[in-house]
Amino acid sequence: MAGTIEAYVNDRFLPLSEARISVEDRGMQFGDGIYEVLLIHGGYPIFLAEHMERLERSARGIRLSLPMSRAGIGEMIRALVARSNRATGIVYLQVTRGVQPRSHRVAEGTVPTLVAYTRDLPAHLPVESCVTLPDDRWLHCDLKTTCLLPNVLAKEAAAQAGADEAIFHRDGVVTEGASTNVFIVDDHGQIHTHPTGPWILAGITRQVVVRIAQERGFALSETPFDLDQLSAASEVFLTSTTAHVRPVNRIDGRLVGSGRPGPVTQRLMEAYAEVIDSEASVMSR
Ligand code: PDD
Repeated sequence: MAGTIEAYVNDRFLPLSEARISVEDRGMQFGDGIYEVLLIHGGYPIFLAEHMERLERSARGIRLSLPMSRAGIGEMIRALVARSNRATGIVYLQVTRGVQPRSHRVAEGTVPTLVAYTRDLPAHLPVESCVTLPDDRWLHCDLKTTCLLPNVLAKEAAAQAGADEAIFHRDGVVTEGASTNVFIVDDHGQIHTHPTGPWILAGITRQVVVRIAQERGFALSETPFDLDQLSAASEVFLTSTTAHVRPVNRIDGRLVGSGRPGPVTQRLMEAYAEVIDSEASVMSR
């Protein structure tokens, strides 16, 4: 039906407006769940294998058994996107530990809740302005869990300062954004981004950009950098499924470089656009 947003809850497709889960879902009461956000591009969900691999990693990390096989979830996502009839957008997928009378202890036999739906891509400005904030998250930022309160509060603090994104640092070492990975380009043209590990989410877009940079001869090092390097950088950009590769023009009120997207960022933005086009055409076969 025109205008209907398709959703999938446990084992059936239905309009999002009719999708329901219990108030005793552990995702609601404890944030006891994991999620993925996939890009729909050219009518297809892209980087599906990478997202499924990360979902499985997050599931293992919180000792959650996924209610469907990787292939089954992939098939459901493809079917959901086909039913949604969208050229672009996102798929939001969430798996929680399920519904039970509230108790921190997980009741035996609790069946995970699996929810997915499609939405439009969020609107973005062409450049982002950021604020830096202490990273007060837990020690498993590599797991894509629904416990996003620190990220939510950081985004709110950024918005109150008139900025779009918060860049976290741990004792001065830049980790990532509230919903993005962060890259800098130093004045020698070297690209830096925080290495994967417990302090950051291993972004799928980050992974693709690292691969593009390596394949196309950019100098890139996955080593930590600090706030001084961030403020001295000639270019700064963010990556995520929804933001793609996005230049940062202002940090804590100060201009980054000239305040315009730099040459390295622009080349990576173009290269990323090419990669997602070709990924969508592979998915269409
Ligand atoms: N956020 N770091 C954090 C903390 C994130 O939440 C995200 C993604 C990323 C980038 O990951 P990817 O390239 O796989 O999207 C990095 C999603 C988009 C969100 O929560 O909406």
